Amino acid sequence: MNISIILAAGEGTRMKSKIPKVLHRICGRPMLEYVLRASNKANIEKNCVIVGHLADMVKDEFKDWDIAFRTQPMGEEYPYGTGYAVMQAMDYIEDNSNVVILYGDTPLIRDETIKKLIDYHEENNYDGTVLTAHLEDPTGYGRIIRDQKGHILKIVEHKDATEEELNIKEINSGIYCFKGKDLKDALGKITNDNAQGEYYITDVITILKEEGKRVGAYVIEDSNEIHGVNSRVQLAFCERIMRNRINYRHMENGVTIINPENTYIEPDVIIGKDSIIYPGAIIAGRTIIGEDCIIGENCRIENSKIGKGVKIYSSTITESTVDDGCTIGPYAHLRPNSHLGKNIRIGNFVEVKNSTIGDNSKAGHLAYIGDADVGKNVNIGCGVVFVNYNGRFKSRSLVEDNAFIGSNANLVAPVVVKKWGYVAAGSTITEDVGEGCLSIARAKQVNKDGWAERKGLKERE
Ligand code: UD1
Ligand code: CA
Repeated sequence: MNISIILAAGEGTRMKSKIPKVLHRICGRPMLEYVLRASNKANIEKNCVIVGHLADMVKDEFKDWDIAFRTQPMGEEYPYGTGYAVMQAMDYIEDNSNVVILYGDTPLIRDETIKKLIDYHEENNYDGTVLTAHLEDPTGYGRIIRDQKGHILKIVEHKDATEEELNIKEINSGIYCFKGKDLKDALGKITNDNAQGEYYITDVITILKEEGKRVGAYVIEDSNEIHGVNSRVQLAFCERIMRNRINYRHMENGVTIINPENTYIEPDVIIGKDSIIYPGAIIAGRTIIGEDCIIGENCRIENSKIGKGVKIYSSTITESTVDDGCTIGPYAHLRPNSHLGKNIRIGNFVEVKNSTIGDNSKAGHLAYIGDADVGKNVNIGCGVVFVNYNGRFKSRSLVEDNAFIGSNANLVAPVVVKKWGYVAAGSTITEDVGEGCLSIARAKQVNKDGWAERKGLKERE
């Protein structure tokens, strides 16, 4: 069996944040989540997360996940270091399992890489295998020391390294695979006798080697994957790489993204072929978009389901469903629990909330449709307001198929407009409108001929 220990106890001082580092988000998800996803996809069956700084916040965020937590005591009086962190999971390590050590603040690690590390470890029957990378600038990382035959001897921390060792460009990623029994035995032997006075997990490699155990090093292909996040600048760096990865996946699936650098798609979004995404789009949560859609500039679509051939321009859609062939925006707002049928047109400055609208209906301009059920082929004129709130509670209204609501009408809920009902422009409707009926609810027009003359107004000319 493969199990993981994910280190996430560190304080992350350089983030200068009230929240734990691993909860900072990359493409909308906490960075620890990416590590857990990669781990699960790499056939790791059990994950144990070592928490410490603001531990409860991390536990709470991941309470629905099937993971074990171990809490590392934090504070001046306690030891520190990656080795000490792993020791917290001593009871969790199974003798006969492969134990993969990961960091919660290294979100770009891919499942394929973890798989390759485990395979390499098993194929060579190693007791410990470290994932390494070649970096142009290895500053700060532990260096990989190999013998003349190229076998790994040990890992030396930057702060403990000699002048000569500092020139080595092969670095320790901090990711390892160990045989459970060997890891446990070696953990019992590490000390904090080093420049930082910390317990180093890297010493496990040295100890195994000294004991004549088999130790290997697997070089990663894409060194971007091991970038850690220690600051907001590095957070943005990782965000950019993740954003491109997500966007490239969609492009490879047949989606056009006009400018991938300026398009923000969260990892769980699904988009159909031949859809086109314009710059500034933010597509978040569990949104599903069908084929042949246009998601225009600066749209925000969150946890929504969009059908085929839908065109959306500069609009915000949250927790709603839009069926095939609709056109939305610019500047429309679909608030939670709205459901648009097929071929509906929602125009500029129209807000829809907690409402259903039937096929082929239209609300072209400046309307508020809240808490309503609107049928098919309904026309909602400019400036129509569904008056859903009386200051104390909200009520629903019903507008049946083929009804026509004239411009600037108010429908005071609860009210029903029956099939083919017509509401005259400017009416405030407080009573139901019958089938095929025209309702006019406004003051009758009075014309006073010659009024301006009588008032002497024309003399000003
Ligand atoms: C570590 C490695 C170094 C490697 C580098 C890769 C050691 C001694 N050094 O260095 O060789 O090149 O990672 O990034 O292992 N953590 C805890 N508890 C602790 C200390 C750390 O949970 O007591 C966690 C941190 O939150 C972080 C991870 O372990 O996620 C790595 O810790 P960090 O202090 O960044 O390690 P480095 O000194 O950078
Ligand atoms: Ca680090």
